[in-house]
Amino acid sequence: MCGIVGYLGNKKATEVLVEGLSKLEYRGYDSAGVAVNTGDELSIRKFKGRLAVLSDDLEKSPIQGTLGIGHTRWATHGEPSDVNSHPHFNKDKSIAVVHNGIIENYMELKEELQKEGYEFLSQTDTEVIAHLVDKYYEGNLFDAVYNATKKLRGAYAIGAICKDNNNELVAVRKDSPLIVGLGEGENFIASDIPAILKYTKNVYFLENGEFVHIQNDTVTVLDENRNVVKKEINEITWDVESASKGGYEHFMLKEIYEQPNGVKETLVRRLDENGDIKLDDIKMTKKDLEKINKVYIIACGTAYHAGLVGKYAIEKFAKIPVTCDIASEFRYNDPFVDENTLVILVSQSGETADTLASLRYAKDKGARIMSVTNVVGSSIARESDDVFYTWAGPEVSVASTKAYTTQLVSFYMIALDFAIKKGSITKEYYHEMIEKLKQMPEKVTKALEQENYIKEDIAKSIKDKDNAFYLGRGLDYSIAMEGALKIKEISYIHAEAFAAGELKHGTIALIEKGIPVIAIATQDSLFEKMVSSMEEVRARGAYVIAVAKEKNKEVEKSADKVIYIPDVDDILSSILTVLPLQLLSYYAAIERGCDVDKPRNLAKSVTVE
Ligand code: M6R
Repeated sequence: MCGIVGYLGNKKATEVLVEGLSKLEYRGYDSAGVAVNTGDELSIRKFKGRLAVLSDDLEKSPIQGTLGIGHTRWATHGEPSDVNSHPHFNKDKSIAVVHNGIIENYMELKEELQKEGYEFLSQTDTEVIAHLVDKYYEGNLFDAVYNATKKLRGAYAIGAICKDNNNELVAVRKDSPLIVGLGEGENFIASDIPAILKYTKNVYFLENGEFVHIQNDTVTVLDENRNVVKKEINEITWDVESASKGGYEHFMLKEIYEQPNGVKETLVRRLDENGDIKLDDIKMTKKDLEKINKVYIIACGTAYHAGLVGKYAIEKFAKIPVTCDIASEFRYNDPFVDENTLVILVSQSGETADTLASLRYAKDKGARIMSVTNVVGSSIARESDDVFYTWAGPEVSVASTKAYTTQLVSFYMIALDFAIKKGSITKEYYHEMIEKLKQMPEKVTKALEQENYIKEDIAKSIKDKDNAFYLGRGLDYSIAMEGALKIKEISYIHAEAFAAGELKHGTIALIEKGIPVIAIATQDSLFEKMVSSMEEVRARGAYVIAVAKEKNKEVEKSADKVIYIPDVDDILSSILTVLPLQLLSYYAAIERGCDVDKPRNLAKSVTVE
């Protein structure tokens, strides 16, 4: 986690750094800091708390300088505090570093450095980097950073500056994201694109082990053997507006309302003039597919929940057995992965450490690697054989919404594509499903029209509850899991999802008077069974909020409140069912006064294991 940014140019560095950090706060917001070369010294300001604490301080007491680095932190080693905040520096404050990642051998390095007389002020792993750079510094910052990184084990994106040179910024990445922004007479480093979008749309994506050496307005990228690398300039097509709130109170609400468009873009960009799916970005042929005898879908959090729907779709359409597993568990479970296995990694950010590690594990075992991701040029995208990009646009809110629905669309398309290549569905059925998918953006818009009802009637009715249960069967159970995660992470209401059929095997003991049960009953084939479960919990005092299709009005007899979604095929319902649950989480969090876009203890991108 953590976000880093660096600047060398003609502007006031603190302004560029604070602006950049404001776009990276989703990566962590326990503390923030900057170091700026003033010409005479490195001036360092860093504070526990949100970025506003730092920017208020800089406003009251500005730092002059056009070279600097900045950091927004998500604590791993050492509690959030002023002293543990980045940048960290060497003993005479002539070198400053910012770091995103984890140095696995920091204890060993720290002991060695302590024996050599280095004193540590913080509990962070990053401070060893500052002292190591000091140890190797003989008047050349690049050499010092280069030699220091040879000692490091773990994941890192590092930015470094020194007092002696007002025109030099050095950075390196290994397993943590880092990009270089290329401006006119100014250059940037950052953990993610939105941090530099205000200034430039031209970027280099750094590969693992690459260093960037910025001197005056020259940018040189070098590989781990110090060979100069000729990089391709990537032009970013997003604008600043799409990475900012655009009039909504929170990114989450904006992103919820971007779903009709995200669903549409993800779909229509891959339909050819005959209405067939054309997956240009997936090189997998019919022959490749014939070799595949099983699929693993691996992801974390919301992406994992999308994977559960993916499993359902691939098994139903393409008739290939699929296992969906959590990335932090997968590689420790000795899975049956070989060259006949397809492993699909799902990740909005494309940088989630566990998902990336699973990718590498599966690759080592010879599996074919496909990813579904939202970030072009992300580590997961670059290391995959095939990439299916979701067209959600930048997702900033920690709570994932539009990434999820676009991941669902991606899975339906992948499943249909596999199925038609394998001949497991007819051409008629294939086109029928594509036509139904094309209707989804409109249905998503319609489902979101329930906003006011959810806000006023439902969110207010659960705002003071400590616990809630989400029930579903079949596909609806996967959506129940996503609904429960969403409300937990932003409103801090404890919520659990259960397969409704499991109720009687233990869970029903928890049902007591007034407890909210969100009963998801959108599967026609399981509707009656869901209604029975609703009756069972209602008989024990639960306050039942049902989610059902418009046509199934009889649900009202068994629920206290009903949220309707437009009528849709069972298999595609997931795209709609999740929408009221997202809105419910959002408004429950608002009612409870929570910081929706920056929930406690979380970060948008989990780049540590
Ligand atoms: O970037 P990724 O999709 O790999 O992230 C995976 C999870 O960390 C993410 O979905 C997380 O669960 C969200 N906060 C959920 O809203």
